[in-house]
Amino acid sequence: MGPSKPLKHSPPPHRPHGAGGVIDLALAKHATARHAAAAAGAARAPTLTVARWQRLLLLATAALLLASGAAWLAVHYLLGAGAGELPHPAEPWLMRLHGAGAFAALFAGGAMAGAHVQAGWRVSARLGRQRGSGIALVSLLSLTVLSAYLLYYFAPEAWRGLMGWIHAGLGAALAGTGLWHARRRLLSWRKP
Ligand code: HEM
Ligand code: HEM
Repeated sequence: MGPSKPLKHSPPPHRPHGAGGVIDLALAKHATARHAAAAAGAARAPTLTVARWQRLLLLATAALLLASGAAWLAVHYLLGAGAGELPHPAEPWLMRLHGAGAFAALFAGGAMAGAHVQAGWRVSARLGRQRGSGIALVSLLSLTVLSAYLLYYFAPEAWRGLMGWIHAGLGAALAGTGLWHARRRLLSWRKP
């Protein structure tokens, strides 16, 4: 057997500075597509950070708080102590329901503070929307909870009526702002 011919070297499989031409073009296209996919994923992130059970809990607690609060105002001022009568028997029951909704709402708000607010803050910069209503939502939630605390523990009789109306106004504004903030998700028929 004669001496074997020296093997022809094939080009190294990886070139750190790029092969130029078609391969570079393909790599660049791939990288662009990956960036676009990542950006699209990030834009959808807030939808993913609000789990279905969280959205349902927020809606259910908002409905319970609004209904029990509004019913209490109607009964209290039309039939009960606010109309100069004896307190109506429904008044304490409506406040018990309202209290149950309030505890659940605090849990739901805490669940949102854990992940959604941070993710929403980052994504809202890119989306160019929802940051204002997000800030309004956090502020109104804090003020509503503060007014509820004052109403429960520090309400002198002379101030109670006014404080109750202020609290109810803040609560109604909170519910309205929440619906506005989540309108795109609530109006879409997409599956979660
Ligand atoms: C500074 C605070 C916040 C920011 C920057 C923020 C940002 C965002 C953004 C960017 C979206 C996506 C909207 C879209 O796709 O149109 C969103 C959706 C949403 N946010 Fe917020 N958010 C904040 C606070 C909150 C709070 C405190 C709550 C509730 C207590 C909340 C509840 C929701 C809900 C329910 C959605 C709809 C998404 C879904 O249901 O999947 N957000 N938010
Ligand atoms: C995060 C949301 C809310 C929390 C934590 C909360 C909590 C409370 C608490 C602790 C009380 C005092 C209960 C008592 O004295 O026995 C109260 C009273 C009341 N709340 Fe709310 N509430 C919220 C939202 C709302 C909303 C959305 C409304 C809308 C109508 C509302 C209307 C009222 C009314 C009318 C009262 C009775 C006021 C009075 O005694 O003069 N609340 N709430």
